[in-house]
Amino acid sequence: MHLFKGMTIKNNELNISEVGVTKLREKYQTPLYVYDENLIEETCALFVDNFKSSNFKTEILYASKAFSCLEIYRVASKFGLGFDVVSFGEMYTAYKAGVDMSKVYFHGNNKTVEELEYALKLNVGTIVIDNDYEYEIVNKLAEKNNRYVDVLLRINTGIDAHTHEYIKTAKDDSKFGYSVYDENIFHLINNINQQENLNFKGFHSHIGSQIFEENSFFEAVRTVLEFSKNVQDRLNINITVLNLGGGFGVYYTAADKPFELGQFLQKYIEVVEEEQGNYDLNLEKVVIEPGRSLICNAGSTLYTIGGTKKTFAGREYIFVDGGMGDNPRYALYKAKYECTIANNMNGEATEEYTIAGKYCESGDILIKDIKLPKAQANDLLLVSSTGAYNYSMASNYNRLPKLPVVFVKNGEHRLVVKRETLDDLIKQDI
Ligand code: LLP
Repeated sequence: MHLFKGMTIKNNELNISEVGVTKLREKYQTPLYVYDENLIEETCALFVDNFKSSNFKTEILYASKAFSCLEIYRVASKFGLGFDVVSFGEMYTAYKAGVDMSKVYFHGNNKTVEELEYALKLNVGTIVIDNDYEYEIVNKLAEKNNRYVDVLLRINTGIDAHTHEYIKTAKDDSKFGYSVYDENIFHLINNINQQENLNFKGFHSHIGSQIFEENSFFEAVRTVLEFSKNVQDRLNINITVLNLGGGFGVYYTAADKPFELGQFLQKYIEVVEEEQGNYDLNLEKVVIEPGRSLICNAGSTLYTIGGTKKTFAGREYIFVDGGMGDNPRYALYKAKYECTIANNMNGEATEEYTIAGKYCESGDILIKDIKLPKAQANDLLLVSSTGAYNYSMASNYNRLPKLPVVFVKNGEHRLVVKRETLDDLIKQDI
């Protein structure tokens, strides 16, 4: 398993930010999500330091769908980050965490009237309109409440990024946004721009997730800027804000080759600056909204190994005390992960195992065919890079409680989300 910054080996045991995994199990039990707070903070700083320009303001939003709980909004806020939220729940959590709501962008292809009303009530800074129907609702609500609302329109650039089918978002038949090749878009932009209660600022574009090709991003930027110029010329509307989305690929296994983030961000800015000059645009602010790349590698999941089993067909299983309830990504996307026996870091990897969970489904797999030292019952198994879209997509399948989240930092550890209890499981039952 790749050791991320902050991971060290002491006495054959894995430490994360100087906290041993055995200690974590003693204190919090398993299964458990563990985040290295230093790594989160360093990554926030890396985004802020490298995505800046002297031509326009820049803003980093954390796409909180990747991992949303009170503490992550607080930590990211310390670095001046804003937030991408997509639901009642994310808005509420951000608000309760004390986030500056003017830095929040509300996304989604089917925001409900109630959610939009709530966004106005909480003074959410920007609403990203997805379609004609939504435009009408936002406009009516703004008029009714006598409010002036900043809005962006989500556009679809049709860029076919090379990633998993389910996490592409800008293909021509995607459910997200309005195609820049659809003539009707000009009509919609004109309508939005004419409304007194809506301040039309510009566009939002997000081409997908877990993308490794820098050029996909650059191509998208060029399309967005060319389109902005087109709109300015045809409709005489100033485009001042662009939100370019997230999607930067991260390392899960050695097959993933992420670009060096700092360098990429600087190039990204250069492309925007250059195209802005070419198209004679007066951009005031350019925004990006990373989720996975900000949080994924900082998070790991710690399990206790129970039984092992060799099937009649010859496959050797390790069974852990969690599984698809805390990490549905193998079942959904055939996502690949690395892992280690965290209390035997120096052991020789002589065996080939499949890691399966305890859920009642054959697809409850975490990792197939991984080389590890011989596993024993009660060993600790740590799966790395589970920081994004694991906690946030967790379920209570089989009526199992959701896992707690612990942040570790320089030898200290603290609980930021409690483990669900049996009573939590029946809390809503009548
Ligand atoms: N902005 C928008 C509008 C998005 O839809 C997303 C992700 C992001 C930003 C952040 O993208 P990121 O930087 O995290 O790639 N559940 C899937 C991922 C779905 C991503 C959805 N949108 C998974 O587990 O891989």
